[in-house]
Amino acid sequence: MKLLLKKGWVLDPGEKIDGQFDLLVVDGKIAEIKPEIDIPVDKIIEVSGLIVAPGFIDLHAHLREPGFEHKETIASGSRAAARGGFTTVCCMPNTNPVNDSPEITRFIKAKAEKESPVNVLPIAAVTKNQKGQELAPLSELVAAGAVAFSDDGQPVYNSALMKQAMEKAAELNVPIIDHCEEKTLALTGVINEGRVSRLLGVEGIPAAAEEIMVARDIILAKNFNLPVHLAHLSTKGSVELLRWAKENRVPVSAEVTPHHLLLTEEALLSRDPNYKVNPPLRTEEDVKALRQALKEGLIEVIATDHAPHAEDEKKLGLEKAPFGINGLETAVPALLDKLVRTGEFSLNRLIEALSVVPARLLRLQNKGRIKPGADADLTLLDLKGVTSITRETFQSKSLNTPYLGSQFQGTVAMTIVNGRVVYPVLD
Ligand code: DOR
Repeated sequence: MKLLLKKGWVLDPGEKIDGQFDLLVVDGKIAEIKPEIDIPVDKIIEVSGLIVAPGFIDLHAHLREPGFEHKETIASGSRAAARGGFTTVCCMPNTNPVNDSPEITRFIKAKAEKESPVNVLPIAAVTKNQKGQELAPLSELVAAGAVAFSDDGQPVYNSALMKQAMEKAAELNVPIIDHCEEKTLALTGVINEGRVSRLLGVEGIPAAAEEIMVARDIILAKNFNLPVHLAHLSTKGSVELLRWAKENRVPVSAEVTPHHLLLTEEALLSRDPNYKVNPPLRTEEDVKALRQALKEGLIEVIATDHAPHAEDEKKLGLEKAPFGINGLETAVPALLDKLVRTGEFSLNRLIEALSVVPARLLRLQNKGRIKPGADADLTLLDLKGVTSITRETFQSKSLNTPYLGSQFQGTVAMTIVNGRVVYPVLD
């Protein structure tokens, strides 16, 4: 099967490609990138005016299956990913049962193989049942197809166990991703502790709850020279700790979500539970620090933390609704509109954070790059197109996005996985 993408603007900061090229895909792999390719093929797609980027990889998403299929399934979450421009999604293990066994890892992979238009890569739990007591069978999990470990939703409290897990992950050559939260400080908190929580009279989650665990993980990484990846950073203090870590050559990497880059606690004045997320939306100063860190490359990755919850669950009100923002379909258009169109970030920087670096972290040699031999996973963007976020077009099974009814300038024009167009769905 030969597919030819004609006259797209190919942008790959990793391979240093920035120009108009024809791109030939043969049997799901990138075959050639040249200013002009003129050979007989099965299909030609005219893509002039569109950006052709290496396929976006979401390092942090919740697909909810098995166990919470009323919120999302592997199939619906994957369709949301395709629509949102993600060719690969890494799914967190806080399912029911927890993905702490090779059986569940294999179940997810098999289900995705059958039902998913995109690549689904399972992240397995660090500890059994995410209880923080005993390590999960990490080697077996990797053998079954896990690409990383995390107890996301929970930190690994026990530092000795965390150290052991970091050692094992390093030996297995996969990242370990920590959800940094000192729960004793965040116990009954609902939103950021500060002006808005005081105004609303709801319990707050202090920045210290995150920063204590960020500091602990950095110290473990430094003292034992073991890598760790920090999930969804949200505070200026975390950025300062990260700066110290990088200056001291500590093997630490970090991610930030679109919502922590784009929204502040002020949004919670509406009491809309669709803004309730963990870690919580913070202050303008935190947002500024996170953006600066992303610009400098202190934070390397943007990950959605796609956390679908059913409408009736989010309707329970601010105090009782579960934490989480639905992110796969809104992330790219919102980032294009609010960070790229405004000139604050280059498109190159965005592509690095959404594709090149996640591929590198996951050691995916054939992804995150447009190069002959690499998988033909591509995200095509139309910077002038408009994305409307509506109930009718939403692919996720849940609608818990604060952006329902919003329009963004910048749109995902096409998502291609292994040489197959998976969005828009063509018959
Ligand atoms: O807001 C969140 N939702 N944060 C997490 O860490 C977990 C996630 C979920 O699973 O809903």
